[in-house]
Amino acid sequence: MSTPPTPTPTPTPTPTPQASAASCTTPAGDRLQALVDARKALPGAMLPILHAIQEEFGWVPPEALPMIASALNLSRAEVYGVLTFYHHFRTQPPGRHVVQVCRAESCQAMGGEGLEAYARATLGVDWHETTADGAVTLLPVYCLGNCACSPAVRVDDDVRGRITPARFDALLAALRQRDAERAGQEVAA
Ligand code: FES
Repeated sequence: MSTPPTPTPTPTPTPTPQASAASCTTPAGDRLQALVDARKALPGAMLPILHAIQEEFGWVPPEALPMIASALNLSRAEVYGVLTFYHHFRTQPPGRHVVQVCRAESCQAMGGEGLEAYARATLGVDWHETTADGAVTLLPVYCLGNCACSPAVRVDDDVRGRITPARFDALLAALRQRDAERAGQEVAA
């Protein structure tokens, strides 16, 4: 793996136009700014800030970049470089559900490669992509701590093991049924 970019503070403390914070007065913008401000004094603040934003929003919205750049006295390009270096961080909103398929050693030894191919083909997406209906984002993951039950997947917060193509289909069907029920309840409300 190549070395991650090391953010280097720019020599002048005055933010450049590129690094100026966006004027964001929406509740989401205010919340983003609060997440940045709460962590900007931490050593190596960039990653804690990015993690906090993704944890709360599910991705890192573009309006966060100028806020982070301004708070850490970096250029937007430097922030973007770190953001896109790590596959963990999402620069697009995720689907309604996130499905992670384990690609680590134990799962690979138990048929994980075939499951990966099946998941991509069934969903019609590649890694880090979202299905056209916005239902599922497919992500690779490297060990879910469920090696004894390889191959494993995680569907939202739920880790499942011994996944076959048929079980994968059943998990997806359950997701879609839950979505349909929720949509029905919203229409009825
Ligand atoms: S290797 Fe897949 S859960 Fe550990």
